[in-house]
Amino acid sequence: MNFELVKATLTQSKGDIVVVGVFKGEDAGKSLKALDAKLPKALEDGIKKHLESEGFKGKVSEIVCVPTFGHIDCPKLMIVGLGSKEEFNPNIIRKTSASVARKVKGHGSTAKVIMILPHEVKATKARSGKSPAKATIDGAALAKAAVEGWVLGKFEFDKYKSQKDKSDQPTGKRAASVKKGEISLALTGITIDTKTFQKAVKEATAVAEATIFARALVDEPPVYMTPTRLSIEAKEIAKDHGLTCTVLSTPQIEKLGMGCFLGVARGADEPPKFIVMKYTAPKAKKTVAIVGKGITFDSGGLSLKPAQSMERMKYDMSGAACVLGVMRVVGALKPNVSVLAVVAATENMPSGKALHPGDVIRAMNGKTVEVNNTDAEGRLVLADALTYAIGQKADELIDVATLTGAVVTALGRAAAGIMGTNQDLIEKIMEAGQDSGERFWQLPLFDEYKQALHSDVADLMNAGSRGEAGSSCGGMFLKEFVENKPWAHLDIAGVAWSEKNKDELNKGGTGFGVRTLSRYLMSH
Ligand code: BES
Ligand code: MN
Ligand code: ZN
Repeated sequence: MNFELVKATLTQSKGDIVVVGVFKGEDAGKSLKALDAKLPKALEDGIKKHLESEGFKGKVSEIVCVPTFGHIDCPKLMIVGLGSKEEFNPNIIRKTSASVARKVKGHGSTAKVIMILPHEVKATKARSGKSPAKATIDGAALAKAAVEGWVLGKFEFDKYKSQKDKSDQPTGKRAASVKKGEISLALTGITIDTKTFQKAVKEATAVAEATIFARALVDEPPVYMTPTRLSIEAKEIAKDHGLTCTVLSTPQIEKLGMGCFLGVARGADEPPKFIVMKYTAPKAKKTVAIVGKGITFDSGGLSLKPAQSMERMKYDMSGAACVLGVMRVVGALKPNVSVLAVVAATENMPSGKALHPGDVIRAMNGKTVEVNNTDAEGRLVLADALTYAIGQKADELIDVATLTGAVVTALGRAAAGIMGTNQDLIEKIMEAGQDSGERFWQLPLFDEYKQALHSDVADLMNAGSRGEAGSSCGGMFLKEFVENKPWAHLDIAGVAWSEKNKDELNKGGTGFGVRTLSRYLMSH
């Protein structure tokens, strides 16, 4: 993929397509003229008329193409909406850049796109939790967002399509490989030096490529993306980036006493894999553990899901995909903090060997759990994964999981649920989310929820009563396994899958969490 920083005004732009943003409610002709006084009057008028006839409003990611009829060197002009000027931030550029990339991709042939970034804009609306408004937008943040959006917008999972789209977007799981003759992006309008730009591109491509890698893992059919396959992916990442990777199989998992993880795995013919990766930063002050739910297919087990709820359950390993994606970024960008990645991977299947509702199993930390619902399997596998991470001397725990349908009911597709034992950690993750364009909403862990996990025969019940505060109850269960460690739980059930192509998201797995956790780790 080719990204460059150029110095060009609208009329000097030499390429195939020049992209210019227009804010909501602005007179497009005038704002383009303000951008470049040399804009020929005839073109200015033409653009204005065309936008009027198209009903262009300047809404975020709205795109109108206008031919330039030889008035400037670029044959095509793309006007993109940036939304209201007061609310502008780099996340808008990520969205528009992705929308442009998706649109250009459809054009097929090789092209050079020049994007003029709005540099002089001041964000006047304070970001929540951040004080002073009127901060000028950082050019590097804009460049990063543009590059991220570009890579994300071009992604499409067409590995199993006989008729492939002719254009050159990265496909399939080897998404990071670059093909020749593709669409290049030149950015202009920002005043940053080449070194800063190159650093921005390096970071943004690492994060975006890891995100589409995670998406591809999720999009793969479950017959292919098994626990074993996930473990092979982890080993390859480790090999590529000099990380350590250990994969534990059933006998070793038994030896460690992971009764909860093994209980879930019992019903499946596919062998479970417990995947551990480690990045050691030279001067690290702490080790952050990122723990992923890797249910490669959730049928519900004997507490079988109805057909409709089961349809998409290949995406129940989205937490694991996120963790592997983050490890790619960690390997490429090497943050100043050590990172332990733990993925508990298994299918959740019904069979003659499967967990029965009513079974009592013993977790690695010694607690006994009565399984009243085999479909609450995520918390079982995570319980042992968290205990394992603590045993490996993790100082801080972050788990990522498609844990509850209740979080979809509560927050829809608009935000992931976040909860935990350490407010500072939660806020830092939420802030990294804001800078990444991934939204989180905190849910409570009130002591009252513990009652729902009461069992008459064991220390805990896995699902308890249904229909009340489901996501918090899931969190409450996990809290029993984090000892005194700072811990945050990200419930991504609502955001890990998208039903439509919109902005930087495409239909299918979203790779949610890769951007946020990468930023969080890089902030150390
Ligand atoms: N993987 C599901 C959660 C889920 C639901 C993810 C919908 C994505 C979309 C999880 O294992 C599950 O089945 N949870 C149960 C918990 C219940 C039995 C306490 C649920 O949400 O119904
Ligand atoms: Mn389930
Ligand atoms: Zn599940």
